[in-house]
Amino acid sequence: MIVAPDEAAIARAAAALAQGDLVVMPTETVYGLACDATNPSAVSRVFEAKGRPRFNPLIAHVADLAAADREARLPGPAQVLAEALWPGPLTLVAPRRAEALTCELACAGLDTIALRAPAHPVARALIAAFGKPIAAPSANRSGRISPTRAAHAEEELGAVVALILDGGPSERGVESTIVGFGADAEPVLLRPGAIARDEIEALVGPLHAPRPGDVSAPGMLSSHYAPRARLRLNAGAPRDGEAYLAFGPQAPAGVLNLSKPGDLVEAAANLYAHLRALDALGAAVIAVAPIPEAGLGEAINDRLARAAAPR
Ligand code: TXA
Ligand code: MG
Repeated sequence: MIVAPDEAAIARAAAALAQGDLVVMPTETVYGLACDATNPSAVSRVFEAKGRPRFNPLIAHVADLAAADREARLPGPAQVLAEALWPGPLTLVAPRRAEALTCELACAGLDTIALRAPAHPVARALIAAFGKPIAAPSANRSGRISPTRAAHAEEELGAVVALILDGGPSERGVESTIVGFGADAEPVLLRPGAIARDEIEALVGPLHAPRPGDVSAPGMLSSHYAPRARLRLNAGAPRDGEAYLAFGPQAPAGVLNLSKPGDLVEAAANLYAHLRALDALGAAVIAVAPIPEAGLGEAINDRLARAAAPR
């Protein structure tokens, strides 16, 4: 059911969405489980397929700022970010318009909506062909590792989708950065992700942590992104019987390395595929080398902490 994303396949995928079916859509961050965001029964099937709690809203994927503006009232800083960073791996959370096309179920009944214009050419082609917002969580069973290859999406959800568009390995490898806006429209970092904090702060000033009563991302559960194996973090070396995920030039040869040169962009791109590969070896524990917190390290360490959290 994995298909090359030629024009005919994009047309088939758009027709499937229009019928209320689910398709897997590649994006530059991770593969998404796509449905018609305006169709509550299609959205309901996404929650069902993932085993996702209904309180956890989905991101609506749109072509551009103009399409986002039809769904949400975007505060000034949101528009600045969208103009600079869309299409790209940035999700903006803003008050939902009453006349939004995206259905309330996709937003889990909240009065806000999460919007993103992805950069991947196949995602863009599908959004253009479909002509309406596409709701798409990562194409994994709830709580598990996000897929960064078409084959990984097939393992997770192949049985429930009409087709899987193969867009190659996801270039970024971690999910989009999610930014919301507080009472004075000051930006709040809801999820670190593929766009590093510095890049956003250079445009709109300091990113705040969510405070009680602020917007929050209901999906940021403490256990998430988890392989079958347990994770042991900040491990200088593996112990007997452990699989090892290395980082940087000091690591022993012959072990799986997130990035031999110590490049955090490369490490993010490899993170989920390497965790899947090590998990497939069947070790009870995957030991993971320390990852610096700078740049994309913030997102990588966030995912590793959730993958290591008690389940
Ligand atoms: O890179 C990505 O963002 C990928 C690709 C497929 O676009 N999608 C993705 O979706 O990571 P998902 O469903 O795995 O994560 C979406 C996150 C969840 O933590 C959810 O709680 C949050 O976005 N979210 C969605 N709507 C929200 C809202 N109205 N307010 C706050 N958080 C929201
Ligand atoms: Mg996810």
